[in-house]
Amino acid sequence: MVKLATDEQEMLDGKHGRAQQRAMEILVQYAEALGAERFVDTNNVHLFVGFHPYPEVIKILDADELASRFLLDTEEKIVVDRVKAFNTTHIWAMDLDRWQIMGAPESLHNLMESIRKYSIRTGICLSATCTPYQVGNVPIRGEHCAWTESSAVPFCNAVLGARTNTEAAHSAFPAALTGKIPLWGYHLKENRRGTHLINVQIDVRDIMDWYLLGYYVGEVCQLAVPVYRLRVQRAPNLSMLKGLNAAGASSGGIMMYHIIGVTPEAPTMEAAFSGNRPKETLVYGESERRQAYENLNCAMDENVDLVNIGCPHYSLEQLRDVARLLDGKKVHEDVTLWIWTAYQLKAIADRNGYTDIIARAGGHLMTDSCPLNTNLFPEGCRVVATDSAKHAHYAPAIGGMDVFFGTMQQCIDAATTGKWRGELK
Ligand code: F3S
Repeated sequence: MVKLATDEQEMLDGKHGRAQQRAMEILVQYAEALGAERFVDTNNVHLFVGFHPYPEVIKILDADELASRFLLDTEEKIVVDRVKAFNTTHIWAMDLDRWQIMGAPESLHNLMESIRKYSIRTGICLSATCTPYQVGNVPIRGEHCAWTESSAVPFCNAVLGARTNTEAAHSAFPAALTGKIPLWGYHLKENRRGTHLINVQIDVRDIMDWYLLGYYVGEVCQLAVPVYRLRVQRAPNLSMLKGLNAAGASSGGIMMYHIIGVTPEAPTMEAAFSGNRPKETLVYGESERRQAYENLNCAMDENVDLVNIGCPHYSLEQLRDVARLLDGKKVHEDVTLWIWTAYQLKAIADRNGYTDIIARAGGHLMTDSCPLNTNLFPEGCRVVATDSAKHAHYAPAIGGMDVFFGTMQQCIDAATTGKWRGELK
């Protein structure tokens, strides 16, 4: 049974209002289901309020009612005054400014507007991205967090050395209300130790290579903690690790990993395993790389309808690169080009002229959302090209799409010619 501190018991007893009481009721149930013995304080929550466009959601236009029903799991209408913990928000059901380009219905836009007002009133920070670490939410090593979004969680754990499990909308919102989260999983040092050794025998050079590595290892390791030993020591940058994380959390459920000599809890192999013996040692070479690539490519028809890039939301480096590739070019008349990023990064892209270059080419720089989480693909869309292993993994199942996966360059070539010519080099 979970042991409650005085402040936690007070919240559960309703001394701080009904919203905190309901949140604490949920968290206690959650902790008990997990076998957690106590809670830990958190002042860093990445939460989900943007709501997917499910028909039952669209029917409810009152944001207090919606939050009560879907985030606090009750028919009772609970009016939240202010959330307690610092927080950022995951993506929303649409680009809040360019929702008509996505073909989003007006009813859903109205709903988003009412949630926007609700968020401002209750102290929810409207960051609207799956990459909170790119827009000012950068927890420090050892900090306890409560983050949603599978690709952001390994960034928090492995890259930053902060501590989180993958939270759901229904646990992150109570965490934001109370500043508490069950102490279990990756909050505990012993669960952060490596379990599998991955001997990487080829040079992992670019973003696509990191996606392929993560995709292969995620598939094999599932929920384990892989330890990557690179034969060619080449430190990845933010865009590459963003890809590794998204891929490993798509084919598997990797929330924590180590790269020896790169990530903060793995200065050495001994530190990465920290007393654990590797359960398995895997080799990643050319044939494993090709296997991951082939698993990600399911389209046959070379005619591309949509080029969808920026999953997870593009970094500033990627925005610069895509603008360079599109400069002076024209998107083919039969192709839609959507490039996704955080709106905060779009502001920088605007200032640097990247947005204008993309627009002159006929592409759209989009923010706040993505078609995978909304299933708002352009009408008639059947074949999608992407440089994201996460998008390539989910688009066939979620959107019924045929997908080509490749580099940013290959995707832009497809956008301008209408044909997929990508191949694994
Ligand atoms: Fe982000 Fe959507 Fe991809 S939430 S990680 S752009 S599926």
